Amino acid sequence: MSGHRHRLGEEEAAIFEPASWEERYSGEEKIWSGNPNPQLVAEVSGLTPGTALDVGCGEGGDVIWLARRGWRVTGADFSANGLARAARHADEAGVAGRTDWWQVDARTFAADGRTYDLVTTHFLHPPDGGMVEVTRRLADAVAPGGHLLVVGHAPSEAFTHLTAGHRKAMFLAEDLLPGLPEGFQAVVVEQRPRTMTREGVTVDVHDSTLLARRTS
Ligand SMILES: C[S@@+](CC[C@H](N)C(=O)[O-])C[C@H]1O[C@@H](n2cnc3c(N)ncnc32)[C@H](O)[C@@H]1O
Repeated sequence: MSGHRHRLGEEEAAIFEPASWEERYSGEEKIWSGNPNPQLVAEVSGLTPGTALDVGCGEGGDVIWLARRGWRVTGADFSANGLARAARHADEAGVAGRTDWWQVDARTFAADGRTYDLVTTHFLHPPDGGMVEVTRRLADAVAPGGHLLVVGHAPSEAFTHLTAGHRKAMFLAEDLLPGLPEGFQAVVVEQRPRTMTREGVTVDVHDSTLLARRTS
């Protein structure tokens, strides 16, 4: 990971745990736009639909986009409230029949023999450099010939309003390469510029994007 390790206090560590996300998803208000993430659209539009796993799927925007394009998708998240929202949105979008749901913590995820043509994760930021280990675990769930797409926030001045723990959890695509097992070929390893709107203000950020193909 970039930079030195930051020791998290108890309160700061709590924001990375399921209870914090359960609370965020407990109200009525929608948190995410429902639009698919741009790097997913950029990298997956050209792939032949098959089976997909989206880890940290939140409210299901990416799951629904994939299902609409013909993928059979499992949405995974450690928040039961998040998964309930995602399932409701998939139902409303008319794709419930192409989706299922898995409550799992990415930090201890075990594929246990299940494989998918696409494993994708967007903006899941475990603390303490944990994304390398998450990458390793998710890679295990990629079928031969399939793809792994990992996207997250690159460290940026745009995030100085967040806690130090949050900022340390951000990563560059190349930071994740040690998590790629043998038999994977890195196809994209880069930070891609994106404009996002926060509280009505336009901010320039970079999406750290790792796309890898399992060759054997
Ligand atoms: C920033 S949101 C992104 C949601 C969605 N991927 C998107 O791009 O709209 C992060 C999501 O990851 C989930 N999450 C965070 N840490 C997790 C972990 N260790 N295991 C599984 N899910 C996790 C949260 O519950 C939340 O839904």
